[in-house]
Amino acid sequence: MGILLTVFQGPLLFYLLSLCFLVDKLQSLTSDGEALVNFRTNIISSDGLLRQWRPEDPDPCEWKGVTCDSKTKRVVYLNLSNHKLSGPISSDIGRLDRLKFLDLHYNNFYGAIPPELGNCTELQGLFLQNNYFSGMIPTEIGNLSNLQTLDISSNSLSGSIPTSLGNLRSLLNFNVSNNFLSGPIPSDGVLDQFGTTTFLGNRGLCGKHINQLCKDDDGNSTGSQPTGSQNVKKNSGRLLISASATVGALLLVALMCFWGCFLYKKLGKNDAKGLAVDVSGGASIVMFHGDLPYSSKDIIKKLETLNEEHVIGAGGFGTVYKLSMDDGNVFALKRIVKLNEGFDRFFERELEILGSIKHRYLVNLRGYCNSPTSKLLIYDYLSGGSLDEALHEKTDLLDWDARINVIVGAAKGLAYLHHDCSPRIIHRDIKSSNILLDGNFEARVSDFGLAKLLEDEESHITTIVAGTFGYLAPEYMQSGRATEKTDVYSFGVLVLEVISGKRPTDASFIEKGLNIVGWLNYLITEDRQREIIDTNCEGVEPETLDALLSVAIQCVSSTPEDRPTMHRVVQTLESEVMTPCPSDFYDSTSD
Ligand SMILES: Nc1ncnc2c1ncn2[C@@H]1O[C@H](COP(=O)(O)OP(=O)(O)OP(=O)(O)O)[C@@H](O)[C@H]1O
Ligand SMILES: *[C@@H]1O[C@H](CO)[C@@H](O)[C@H](O)[C@H]1NC(C)=O
Ligand SMILES: *[C@@H]1O[C@H](CO)[C@@H](O)[C@H](O)[C@H]1NC(C)=O
Ligand SMILES: *[C@@H]1O[C@H](CO)[C@@H](O)[C@H](O)[C@H]1NC(C)=O
Ligand SMILES: *[C@@H]1O[C@H](CO)[C@@H](O)[C@H](O)[C@H]1NC(C)=O
Ligand SMILES: *[C@@H]1O[C@H](CO)[C@@H](O)[C@H](O)[C@H]1NC(C)=O
Ligand SMILES: [Mg+2]
Repeated sequence: MGILLTVFQGPLLFYLLSLCFLVDKLQSLTSDGEALVNFRTNIISSDGLLRQWRPEDPDPCEWKGVTCDSKTKRVVYLNLSNHKLSGPISSDIGRLDRLKFLDLHYNNFYGAIPPELGNCTELQGLFLQNNYFSGMIPTEIGNLSNLQTLDISSNSLSGSIPTSLGNLRSLLNFNVSNNFLSGPIPSDGVLDQFGTTTFLGNRGLCGKHINQLCKDDDGNSTGSQPTGSQNVKKNSGRLLISASATVGALLLVALMCFWGCFLYKKLGKNDAKGLAVDVSGGASIVMFHGDLPYSSKDIIKKLETLNEEHVIGAGGFGTVYKLSMDDGNVFALKRIVKLNEGFDRFFERELEILGSIKHRYLVNLRGYCNSPTSKLLIYDYLSGGSLDEALHEKTDLLDWDARINVIVGAAKGLAYLHHDCSPRIIHRDIKSSNILLDGNFEARVSDFGLAKLLEDEESHITTIVAGTFGYLAPEYMQSGRATEKTDVYSFGVLVLEVISGKRPTDASFIEKGLNIVGWLNYLITEDRQREIIDTNCEGVEPETLDALLSVAIQCVSSTPEDRPTMHRVVQTLESEVMTPCPSDFYDSTSD
C-alpha cells in the first residue's frame, strides 16, 4: 500500500492538480477573490489567518477578515488588523473598488502605501496605523471623497503631506502621528480642522496647525507645495535630522519588535511538550559525513527523553534543547515545527548543503531528524553560549582583546559563507544571539541559511518577524530582499554592539530618538566617535579603536555599494586591527 502510493504519487498529484484546475475553471473565483489571493501572495508571514482563504471557493465572502455585500458579493470590509502580517501590499488592492473599510493596523506591513488605493473610492475608513509603511503618502488618497477616517500613524512615512488630502471633504478622523513627514501641512482645505494631536512626532512638519512657522528657503513663512523631502539637506543640522529620520525608521520598527519577539519567544516555549510526540510517529535520522557516531535508534531514544527542562533557548525558528548523549558528548538540538507539507525534499537538499559546510568559525550542523511534525537539527553544542548573553547578561566576561577576537572570528565565518561556499550563502540574520562562543570564547556563526530555508519554504516565518530589526539594513527593510551587503550592514551593527556593549536598540539610544547607528552618526558629526566605546573596557589602543570604528562605519553605510565585502573586512581587520604595534613587529622579526 505504502509502495503503491509512492509509485503513483507523481501522476496522482498531477491528476488531482488538473482536477482542481478544472473545478477552478468551472466556478472561478470572483475578481475580488482573485485580488485577495494576489494580495496574499505578497504576504511573507502571518499567524496563519490567511491559510483559510481557499482559491477554489466561488467567492471570498466566507474568508476570515472579509465581509461582502450580501447581494453583490463584492468585498466591502477587509479587516486583518493585528495578525502579524508581513510584506508589501499588492496593488491589486485597487481592484476592490467597493471596499468601505480597510483595516490593516497593527501588523508588519512594509513598503509603499499603494497609490491604487485611490481607486477604492467608496472607502470610509482606512486604518493602516502601526505598520512599517515607508515612502510618501500617495496623492491619490485625496480621491477618496467618502473617507471619514484616515489613520496612518506610527509608520515610517516620509515626504510631505499631499495637498490633495485637503479635498477629503468627509474626513472626521485624521492621524499621521509618529512618521518622518516633513514640509508644510496643507492649509487650504479640510485639514485645517485638525490640531496638534493629528501631527505628533513628525520632526519636519510645520504649519499653523501645530504652531510651527514654516521657513522656506526664501525666508517666506508659509507655503504648501508638496515638495517632498527635497527641502531637507540645506545645512548640516538639517542633514543630521534627516539622517536620524532614516535610523529613526529602523528604531520605530525595533521598538515594535520588542513586543513581537516577546510573543514569538512565548510561542517557541509552547511547543516543548511535543518532542516525544514528534519522534514517536516514525522519525528518521540523517547524519552528515558520519558526524554522529550513534545509531539512529540511540538518537531517537534520546530525543524522546527531552522535555522542557532541557530547553536552552528559543528563537524565531523554534526551541533549542541540550542533547547529552550517554558517552558524554553534548549537542544542541533545534526544533523547527513543520508548517507545510510538500517542501520536504527541497528542505532536505538545502540542509544537505548546510551540513556540508564546515569551517572553524561556523557552528557545525551534524545532522537532523526528520519527523512527520518537525525538523530537529543537530548542531555542536557551544559551551560559551551566545555573544548576546556574554555581552549583555554577563558583563565583564569579554575584555577588549576577547572582543576583537570575537569580531574577527565572526567576520571570517561570514566571509567564508559569502565568498568561499558554493553556492554562496547569505546569512540574513546576523546578530549577537547568532554568534555563539566556544569554551575559549572563539566565535562561531550560527543559523546561517536557515532564514532563507524557512522563507522559501513558505512557512511564513522570516527573519523580519524573527526579530532582528536593530540589525537590518535600510534597503532590506524597504524591499525585504537580502544580499551580501545587507549581511555586511548587520555585521557593522554587530561590531558597534561589541564595542559599545549596548544592544542596537538600547534604551539610551531610543531616548534620543536614535538607534546605535544613529548614535554613531551623531557622534561622528561631533567628532566624538570614540565615546561609543564600552566604559567597562580598559587598555584600548586609540589606533585600534579608530581602525575598528572605521570598518564599522563603512559597514553601516546607508548605501549598499559603499559597504565593503566581508573579504575586505577580514583583510582590514587583520592588517589594521590585529597588527602588532611597530615595536612588537621589530621584536618578532629580529630573532
Ligand atoms: N549550538 C548551540 N550551542 C549552545 N547554545 C545554543 C546553540 N544554539 C542556540 N543556542 C542557545 O539558544 C538560544 C536560542 O537560539 P535560537 O537560534 O533559537 O534563537 P535566536 O538566535 O535568539 O534567534 P534566531 O531564531 O533568529 O536565530 C541562543 O541564544 C543560544 O543561547
Ligand atoms: C477590525 O477588527 C478588530 C478586532 O477584531 C476591531 O477592533 C476593529 O474595530 C475592526 N475594524 C473594523 C473597521 O471593523
Ligand atoms: C480601478 O477600478 C476599475 C473599476 O472601477 C477597474 O476596472 C480597474 O482595474 C481598477 N484599477 C486598478 C489599478 O486596480
Ligand atoms: C485620482 O488622483 C490622481 C492624482 O491625485 C488624479 O490624477 C486622478 O485623475 C484621480 N482619479 C480620479 C478618478 O479622480
Ligand atoms: C494619533 O496617534 C497617536 C499615536 O498613536 C496618538 O498619541 C494621538 O492621540 C492620535 N491622535 C488623534 C487625533 O487621534
Ligand atoms: C516671499 O515674500 C515676499 C514678500 O514678503 C515676496 O515678495 C516674494 O515674492 C515671496 N516669495 C515667494 C517665493 O513666494
Ligand atoms: Mg539563533
